[in-house]
Amino acid sequence: MLEALKAQPQDKILQLIQMYREDTREGKIDLGVGVYKDATGLTPVMRAVKAAEQQLWQLETTKTYTGLAGEPAYNAAMQAMILDGAVAAARLASVATPGGTGAIRQALELVKLASPGATVWISAPTWPNHPSIIKYLGIPMAEYRYFDATTGGVDFAGLLADLGTVKPGDVVLLHGCCHNPTGANLDPAQWAEVVALLAAKGAVPLVDLAYQGFGDGLEADAAATRLVAASFPEVLIAASCSKNFGIYRERTGVLIAVSKDAEATKITQQNLAFLNRQNYSFPPDHGARLVTMILEDDALRADWKAELEEVRLNMLGLRQALADALRAETNSDRFDFVARHRGMFSRLGLTEAQVVRLREEFGIYMVGDSRINIAGLNARTVPLLARAVASVL
Ligand code: LMR
Repeated sequence: MLEALKAQPQDKILQLIQMYREDTREGKIDLGVGVYKDATGLTPVMRAVKAAEQQLWQLETTKTYTGLAGEPAYNAAMQAMILDGAVAAARLASVATPGGTGAIRQALELVKLASPGATVWISAPTWPNHPSIIKYLGIPMAEYRYFDATTGGVDFAGLLADLGTVKPGDVVLLHGCCHNPTGANLDPAQWAEVVALLAAKGAVPLVDLAYQGFGDGLEADAAATRLVAASFPEVLIAASCSKNFGIYRERTGVLIAVSKDAEATKITQQNLAFLNRQNYSFPPDHGARLVTMILEDDALRADWKAELEEVRLNMLGLRQALADALRAETNSDRFDFVARHRGMFSRLGLTEAQVVRLREEFGIYMVGDSRINIAGLNARTVPLLARAVASVL
């Protein structure tokens, strides 16, 4: 049986981690996978997470199973953090999932269960795992234009033209904030236009919210998701705690489904629990419990928010420093968009060959589409990157 298996395409982001690890050069720079790093290159355990873990160790008396949907308190805390009352609780169903990928996967499985022929629209480009899972599940897929490589901004006219052809019941995957891989985002007026268009088309939005708190702030980053959730009879929201709580390996995510009324919500909730049971039974609990403890405790919550804000401001500072350094090195404003982008990533607009040269000649690792992880930089490496980029142009 197993000899019938064919080699699978390797995930480009994960492949890059491997190449970086195997590079023995001193001074190599990792701008690949989306993991936050401080100025010393460490991905720290956040203070509030450490404090919650200590409390948990003292207070936890059992490791018996939770519910199929995860702890109700976790689901409620995540609904509050993401939606802040934008939709009546009676219309919300949700399940804890293993990370944001687990939430995306369950969302797509739910789409397949509810509406087998529905097309899922993804932005061009998007996080590579989106099309990968969609194809794996055999779901029809279409792309809408998103990125304007010449300006480094959103190709809004292209986006509207493509989403104008969406059919009723099609699912449209939107990045709630901090677009991955481009870093280019819709402004509030553009969001309002997209929402009006998709609502008129009868589309079902699927929002991927993996970087809440990494762009313009915890509340500002949820604004688009709240608008979407309040504007459609049905919405799916896949959210991750990997980045904003820094608990990557704990696999902590949530899938929230907005249904048209309380009756429909009951059935949606049953189906979400059913999908968890089919795929892995009970979702992982440790990370979800820490998140719940932090969100429910005033002191822990305040400390977490303060540290998340430090992280966000650090990335914004690095953005400005890189934009300035690129301006100086290239003697042009070509890369000014880096300072306007938000979140962990920016797509620099380099060719694949230039990306390879940066890796081979300078030991600088970025994804092949020239996506960089801003948090992989520090005050020392910003000028090194700017000089290297200028020299391969
Ligand atoms: C990324 O895009 O680098 C992150 O979301 C990590 C991942 O799993 O790909």
